[in-house]
Amino acid sequence: MPAPIPLDVSDLSALDDDVPGAVQRLLDHLLAQRAQDAAALDPVFARDLAERVRRFTLDGGKRTRPRFVWWALRACGGGPGVAEAALRVGAALELIQTCALVHDDVMDGSALRRGRPALHTDVTAQYAGTVPSAHGPRFGEAAAILAGDLALAWADDIVAATEMSPATARAVRGLWSAMRTEMVAGQYLDVHGQATSSRSPAHAVHAACLKSALYSVERPLALGAALAGADAARTEALCSAGRCVGIAFQLRDDLVDVFGGHRPTGKPTGGDIRTGRPTYLAAVARARAEATGDRRALTVLRRCLGRADLSDSGLAEVRDVLVTTGARAVVEAKIERLVAQGMRHLDSVVLDTAGRLPLVRLFHTTAGVAWEPDATGGAAGPRDGLPAPASEVPPPPDGGGPVPLLLTEGAPR
Ligand code: IPE
Ligand code: IPE
Ligand code: MG
Ligand code: MG
Ligand code: MG
Repeated sequence: MPAPIPLDVSDLSALDDDVPGAVQRLLDHLLAQRAQDAAALDPVFARDLAERVRRFTLDGGKRTRPRFVWWALRACGGGPGVAEAALRVGAALELIQTCALVHDDVMDGSALRRGRPALHTDVTAQYAGTVPSAHGPRFGEAAAILAGDLALAWADDIVAATEMSPATARAVRGLWSAMRTEMVAGQYLDVHGQATSSRSPAHAVHAACLKSALYSVERPLALGAALAGADAARTEALCSAGRCVGIAFQLRDDLVDVFGGHRPTGKPTGGDIRTGRPTYLAAVARARAEATGDRRALTVLRRCLGRADLSDSGLAEVRDVLVTTGARAVVEAKIERLVAQGMRHLDSVVLDTAGRLPLVRLFHTTAGVAWEPDATGGAAGPRDGLPAPASEVPPPPDGGGPVPLLLTEGAPR
């Protein structure tokens, strides 16, 4: 039986008013207990790893994933009986995020995260005077692998200790395990694409879906729906919408990495260019340059992508090519269409007003797209009753089937 949490889960309107604040208090409570357990095991482990995982998780992040869980729950009629479970699953998602980001920064060779040194850089710096400099970075990366593993273990523990009805627990477990595997698959495709230079636009969208859209948007929405005991129609609409918005989220992240703006990432721009990441943006630029025989663009891309020591003027040249080939505009337009398609999926079902409007807003901020409230003032859909075209979320380019929408049965409470 988990210890009582420091939140009044019967006061839904207070929780609605500040979902990130509620998740923060819960994380603070859950991680204090784990820090104590770590200290009892070993003081060096506690100081170097457990405390870093705790601080990393508490000290930043937009809390996007718990917010998706919460607002899907509310949009599907979930109330006080499942509020604690939703917040706990949201807190666990923040620990999954810690694992993902700490490992991602090792894989991508990123020295900064959330405006601070990445965890592996920080450990390397801590031991700069003690560990011989030839071994320091490798030691820092080993520590980051273990810190990410610890965050993942704590995330799983929190979900496992969450009280739910047997049917809800089955649904949540299914979604949770699918999500963890999907993210690993997507991250692998990303590094595989980088290493092998397989860079088609279709591959890039498929990897973006697996590595980011699913764990960032679709699965959190599905978890909220499952906790609320939503029916298949609402669940499917939320999942389909989440996949569109989730892909848009990663495409926006790729644009921000090159051009900055929209949202602070706490990282310098140009990292994806210098590491030669196989983003959709870069793939579209290359495909368009090839199609139009734009030799200058092809030369710049060949010379600059993946060059770790690329100068600022080289980076400016790549930016110019991404604009002149039309790739930046293509990606912007695709993001807009994905969000519009996501909205059509959302509008294909009736959702509770408590959650629908916050979800609409969150869709737009997550994709970095301006939201214009329309004449309905965000009333519950369906509005136009039009079927949503499937074209913006293509099937994977080769082999394997499309990632299934994991529908869970309405969970009786
Ligand atoms: C960053 O995710 C990693 C991606 C999947 C692109 P977020 O933008 O949600 O990062 P935080 O948690 O707010 O720092
Ligand atoms: C990261 O994608 C996706 C995951 C962390 C699973 P990126 O490598 O683009 O994320 P950022 O830009 O470093 O946050
Ligand atoms: Mg990265
Ligand atoms: Mg990455
Ligand atoms: Mg990125």
